[in-house]
Amino acid sequence: KREIVVGLLGLGTVGSGVVEIIHNHQRELEHQVGCSVKISKVLVQNKDKKRDVSLDDIYLTEQAEEILEDPEIDVIVEVMGGTHETRDYLLSAFQNKKHVVTANKDLMALYGRELINAATENGCDLFFEASVAGGIPVIRGIRDGLASDRLTKIMGIVNGTTNYILTKMDQEGRDYEEVLKEAQELGFAESDPTADVEGLDAARKMVILASLGFSMNVNLEDVVVRGITTVTTEDMEYCRQLGYTLKLIGLAKRKDGRIEVTVQPMLLPNNHPLASIHDEFNAVYVYGEAVGETMFYGPGAGSLPTATAIVSDLVTVMKNIRLDVTGQFPPTALHEKVLKSDEE
Ligand code: HSE
Repeated sequence: KREIVVGLLGLGTVGSGVVEIIHNHQRELEHQVGCSVKISKVLVQNKDKKRDVSLDDIYLTEQAEEILEDPEIDVIVEVMGGTHETRDYLLSAFQNKKHVVTANKDLMALYGRELINAATENGCDLFFEASVAGGIPVIRGIRDGLASDRLTKIMGIVNGTTNYILTKMDQEGRDYEEVLKEAQELGFAESDPTADVEGLDAARKMVILASLGFSMNVNLEDVVVRGITTVTTEDMEYCRQLGYTLKLIGLAKRKDGRIEVTVQPMLLPNNHPLASIHDEFNAVYVYGEAVGETMFYGPGAGSLPTATAIVSDLVTVMKNIRLDVTGQFPPTALHEKVLKSDEE
């Protein structure tokens, strides 16, 4: 194949970043893969809306079928968000033998297993690096980089909004409501920040990391979640006096043959590497039996950082298409058997 054709679902902040990177990095992409890539169609809610990103030669449509059923399209990049309708779109993409790259953590946390199985059955790739910690290649790090190790613990600051709020409360002694409002004005926090501040966003990301890191099926409803809405500046001051920093930490570890996942405010000694992660940055600290301690750090959101992860996944898919292989790992059930017999 001389050119790989992409259909994009969604043209918001991240979708525009994807268009920009594919347009601006065309030479690098061609060099990596040995063929060119183009976005042929984009699914949008309103075709007539004015946009900042340059869309020369790209066809905008409000009908998903025009993309999902287009035989010219090889890869679907999903950045529209949502779960119900989006799941149907991706299942239909696999039926039509299209590979998928998605940034959707809600979707992967809820339907990841089903989608991975559907991709595998249809001989398609499904990659989702951007779904956890935006621009940080942590899924690759855990799934590929540490594939040979046996992980014992994953600890993460995987929500930028809450880390921003806690950092400002800690360093500037300001109160929760005031910093939340500022985070919304700066565009870090969503206009409805409930999922962030209640810890649910972090829980979804931890489910994805834990499922991959421990090769086990982890369910969102089994995660114990506490957010930061009741943290006060007095709590922060008290922690500081004791030599601790308060952070919203996602923790996944083995316990009694199961994987236990929690998201809650935790006190970290000031010299813990996660204690110094400031503002809206994310970091994931991973312990492996052989490797020891590792940490992945960087921007957890934003148009271009998140788009970088998506287009890097796209590069992997393009390489696989060129080699006529799929990079899809086997369904998690296979791993569960291996792990269980290991522990018995
Ligand atoms: N609301 C998320 C955060 C955005 O604050 O981290 C990235 O998933």
